[in-house]
Amino acid sequence: MTRRSRIAFGAVVGAILVLIGCSDQQPTGPARLSPSAQLDRVNLSDTALTPRLVRELARQRGIGRLDDPPFVRPALVELGRALMFDPILSGNHDVSCATCHMPAYATGDGRSLSVGAGGVGLGPDRIPPNGLFIPRNGPPLFDLSQLRHMFWDGRVELIGRNQFHTPAAAQLTPAMTRVFEFGAVSAQPMFPVTARTEMRGQTGNELTGIADNDYSDMWAALMKRLGNVPEYRRMFEQAYPGKRFDAMNFAYASNAIAGFLVSKLTLNKSPWDRFLAGRDNALTPQQLDGARSFLTLKCSVCHTGATFSDDQFHDVAVAQIGPGEGNGPNLRDDFGRMNVTGDPADQYRFRTTPLRNVEITGPYGHDGSVLTLHDFIDHYSQSDVKLQTYDPSHLEPALRGTVLNNTTGVLAQRDTLLNGVVLTPQLVDNLVAYMIALTDPAARNLTRLAPRRVPSGLPVGQ
Ligand code: HEC
Ligand code: HEC
Repeated sequence: MTRRSRIAFGAVVGAILVLIGCSDQQPTGPARLSPSAQLDRVNLSDTALTPRLVRELARQRGIGRLDDPPFVRPALVELGRALMFDPILSGNHDVSCATCHMPAYATGDGRSLSVGAGGVGLGPDRIPPNGLFIPRNGPPLFDLSQLRHMFWDGRVELIGRNQFHTPAAAQLTPAMTRVFEFGAVSAQPMFPVTARTEMRGQTGNELTGIADNDYSDMWAALMKRLGNVPEYRRMFEQAYPGKRFDAMNFAYASNAIAGFLVSKLTLNKSPWDRFLAGRDNALTPQQLDGARSFLTLKCSVCHTGATFSDDQFHDVAVAQIGPGEGNGPNLRDDFGRMNVTGDPADQYRFRTTPLRNVEITGPYGHDGSVLTLHDFIDHYSQSDVKLQTYDPSHLEPALRGTVLNNTTGVLAQRDTLLNGVVLTPQLVDNLVAYMIALTDPAARNLTRLAPRRVPSGLPVGQ
C-alpha cells in the first residue's frame, strides 16, 4: 500500500467518524475495528478498490457468507410444514403459526403488533378481539438456526450445546431437550401454543382451563389432540423413525417446526452473498457506498455475523406503543431483556435484529412503531431527538393513542454507541440501498411454502 493512499483513506474514515460524532466513543467488543486496522491489509491503489475494501471490512467485522442450511430429513420438514400451517395447535382452532408468520408478508404479518386468538381477518386487515394486541411485533423467521436467543427479549436461550433457559424452566425436561436438533429455534415453538392471546385462547376449549404456568399439561393436551388424527400419527412416526407416537412429547412437534423453518428459510443468495463470493457488480455503486458506511460506522458493531446480529441486547431508543408487557407504573411499558434477567442494566434492551431481508419485513422495531426501513435507519440520526418527537399519526388508528411517555428512562439506558450519532440524508439513503442488497430473491415470494391442506382438515387460511 502506498503512503498516499493510506492518507487518502484515513481522511475518508476520519470524515465519517466526525460526521457521526463518535470520536469520544470507540466501539467495544470482539468486533472492534480501528481505522488503522482497516488499512493494514487493503491495497487501495487499483480501480477495484472499493469492492475489495468492502470485502475486507466485512471480513474484519465478522460479517461473512451465510452457510447453507443443515440437511433436514424430508419427513421432518413435511411434518413441520403441516404443524406450522395447521390451526389445530390453537385452542379454538382459529389461529396457526402462519396466521402471524405469513408467507405473503415475508413470514411476518405486515402489522406493527400481531393479533392472535379471536382475531378476524389476516395481515394488516386483521381486527383484534376487544382491541387486544400482542405487545410485540411479529418477527420474520429467517436464518434462525444461527441465533442462540429467540424472541425480542431472548427468553428462550440455548446455553452451551444442549442447555436451555426458557419460561418453562424444569418443565422443559431432558426427555424434551434431547429431541432438539437445531438449537434455540427447536425450543421456540413450545411457547406460542401456551400463550392465551397468541394461540391458546381465553375460554372454550380443553386448553384454556389449564393454569398459565402448567406447561406440561398444555403440551400433553396438544399431543392428545394430534394423536386423534391418524395422519399426524403416521407423519410423526415417519419423521422420527423407530419411535412410536405414544412415546413422543410436544418437543417432537416443536423440533419438526424448527426443521421446516431452518430448511426452507435459511436464504443465502442475496446480492450481498454474491458480492462476498467475488462478484463485484452484484452491488450497485450506491449499495457499495452504503456497505462501506455500514461496515465503517457503528452499525456493524451490533449488527455483525452472517445474520447481522450479535445476538445480544441493546437499547436503541425505540418508542413504546401498544399494551406493553405489564411493566412500569401503569403496566404499559416493556422492559425488554430485564424481564428475563431481572437486571436493571437490561431495562429497555432488545435483541439486535438480524437484517437479512429487512427490506420486506416491516414494520420495524420490537413494537413495530416505525413503519418504513428508511425511517428506522434515519431514526439512528439523533435518536434522542427522534424519540422525543416521535409522531404516531402514521400508525393504525387503534395504536395512535398508545404512545408511552417513557422517554427519560429509555434515553437513560440508550446504548452509548448512539451518543452524538448524526447521519446525513445521503448516508441514510445509501444505508437503505445497502439493506436492499441483503434481500434474497427467494424471500420475495414464499407462497410456495404453504401446504394446500393440513392433516386436521381445518382451513389453511393462507
Ligand atoms: C398471534 C401471533 C403469533 C402466532 C400465532 C405465532 N407467533 Fe411467533 N411470534 C409472534 C410475535 C409477536 C413474536 C415476538 C414475541 C416476543 O418477542 O415477545 C414471535 C416470535 C417468534 C419467533 C422468534 C423469532 C426470533 O427472531 O427470535 C419464532 C421462531 C416464532 N415466533 C415462531 C412461531 C411458531 C412456530 C408459531 C406456532 C407454534 C408461532 N410463532 C405462532 C407472533 C406470533
Ligand atoms: C447499539 C447496537 C446497535 C447499533 C450501533 C445499531 N443497531 Fe440497529 N438495531 C439494534 C437493536 C437492539 C435493534 C432492535 C431495537 C428495538 O426494536 O427496540 C435494531 C434494529 C435495527 C433495524 C430494524 C430491524 C427490524 O426488523 O425491526 C434496522 C433496519 C437497523 N437496526 C439498522 C441499523 C443501522 C443501519 C445501523 C447504523 C446506522 C444500526 N442499526 C446501528 C442494535 C443496534
